[in-house]
Amino acid sequence: MIRAAILCLLLATAAGAQEAGGEIFARYCVSCHGADGTGSGPMRRVLTLDPPDLTRLAERNGGVFPTARVIWRIDGRDPLLAHGNEMPVYGDLFAGGDLVIRSETGETIRSTQPMADLVAWLEAIQR
Ligand code: HEC
Repeated sequence: MIRAAILCLLLATAAGAQEAGGEIFARYCVSCHGADGTGSGPMRRVLTLDPPDLTRLAERNGGVFPTARVIWRIDGRDPLLAHGNEMPVYGDLFAGGDLVIRSETGETIRSTQPMADLVAWLEAIQR
């Protein structure tokens, strides 16, 4: 009974994170990466680099979702020209480090709740 309640709570939290992440994605990322994350956003035409298909991040990494790389590429620790280098185009939404996220290798990464939500959503759209 209690175990079932805890499981429900965990599932609800995971679903909540994914939903929140989906909203962040819709606001800051769809213009380039497209609503479904496959890279078909309206900005694609004017970009010199094609936005990658974000539904294949795990597939392109031997079946493992590359949590650390994804976080660093979004928050600018691993700068991408298209994201605005060290100053990501979405401003300081992901600045700070009040939350610890565990990477695929067990490494701890300081980040924020919006980033954790975004990562949960990106993981959920993997093929
Ligand atoms: C101005 C267009 C643009 C916006 C806005 C944008 N991206 Fe990107 N993104 C790109 C392009 C282009 C690349 C490929 C850059 C490269 O390979 O150097 C990329 C690369 C990435 C990568 C790296 C993929 C990999 O294989 O490592 C991730 C993850 C990513 N974007 C997620 C996001 C998220 C999440 C957002 C919103 C918070 C976002 N992007 C906003 C254009 C954009």
